[in-house]
Amino acid sequence: MNTQGTLAAALMVLLSACGQDSGAGLASEVVIEADSIPASLTGEAGSMAAGAAEFVSREGGHCVLCHAIEGLEAEFQGNVGPDLTGVGERLTPGQIRLRIVDAQRIWPDTVMPAYYRTGGLRQVGQEFDGRPALTAGQIEDLVAYLSSQGS
Ligand code: HEC
Repeated sequence: MNTQGTLAAALMVLLSACGQDSGAGLASEVVIEADSIPASLTGEAGSMAAGAAEFVSREGGHCVLCHAIEGLEAEFQGNVGPDLTGVGERLTPGQIRLRIVDAQRIWPDTVMPAYYRTGGLRQVGQEFDGRPALTAGQIEDLVAYLSSQGS
């Protein structure tokens, strides 16, 4: 193993000792702490307005297939997943981020797609093979929108 590899291995051990995880299989390196990804995937805050549009759109993840939010303008709102009205009061932005990035880490058998995985994908179409279903920017928009719910 070269020096860099040794350092990387040492860092992994250190991170897991702190209860952290570097999120193998995700589209970019992220640090997972307990049930949360505290840092923005882009390093910036997302746009609430863009997140609201993505939540209902096919390209943006089509969250309304399974989730409803009171007062949201959408032709259809599903109830396979929990109602997300006021979710910003129940979950921190970091907790919301991990649930969108890789819901299977929290609920191994969930039907909710892992939107920021590139490996071990279930529930998303073949067209997403090798790239995440949503970009880091789209996920940050959704985090901004959902975190604003209930405040
Ligand atoms: C195919 C259905 C489905 C889709 C599509 C889906 N989800 Fe989910 N979601 C679920 C289910 C089901 C759960 C609850 C976990 C479980 O019990 O499996 C969940 C849980 C969540 C939670 C945690 C809620 C809580 O109160 O703990 C958040 C946040 C969330 N989803 C956001 C989203 C967002 C944002 C999108 C779109 C990018 C999305 N979901 C798309 C099914 C879905």
